Amino acid sequence: MLRIAVLVSGGGSNLGAIIESIEKGDLNCSIEAVISDKDSAYALTRAREKNIPAFVVSKKEFGAESSNRILELIKDKVDLIVLAGYLSILNGEILRQFKNKIINIHPSLIPSFSGAGMYGIKVHEAVIKKGVRYSGCTVHFVNEEVDGGEILLQEVVQVLQEDDAATLQRRVLEKEHYILPKAIKLISEGKVTIKDGKTFLL
Ligand code: GRF
Repeated sequence: MLRIAVLVSGGGSNLGAIIESIEKGDLNCSIEAVISDKDSAYALTRAREKNIPAFVVSKKEFGAESSNRILELIKDKVDLIVLAGYLSILNGEILRQFKNKIINIHPSLIPSFSGAGMYGIKVHEAVIKKGVRYSGCTVHFVNEEVDGGEILLQEVVQVLQEDDAATLQRRVLEKEHYILPKAIKLISEGKVTIKDGKTFLL
């Protein structure tokens, strides 16, 4: 069974979607740890309600050592790290030890509206401001480039004339809750390979 750690910073609706997918029997994996960089994250409450080990690794306490502390907590205990609304940047040894074993959900169609500083509602505000007709979300592998790793899954969401950032965010979030568990399932079934900077689904 695929063992995962889920990294969070906020409400944890994506964590909730993973838990629901496991409980429905759609996803055969175990959540070994939920780790947040914020002790106020409601995602921690979601984890504790399900008796999932929950940890806080805050920049306040660990600073530049945060990634190493996370690595300590999960080393040899998980096969895949899932960033689900996690707003800090992983760096250093964890990226080497978990090469091609870290995925992230981003609320746009990467490479559009992605990269440093593009997160949460800011993404949707930029989408509305630009007037694009379609947005969506992306699950991608994580490397040292922010939002730069190989793309795994994407879902498209039409931007409506009457949309504002909040209404668009809600519809994109629904699609996030669909593709993140789907991406974990594909990986758990060994159906994903990476070659020449792209992913291939078996
Ligand atoms: C989502 O919009 C996700 O795309 C982004 O952070 C937000 C967190 O959502 N990465 P939640 O904490 O999973 O509800």
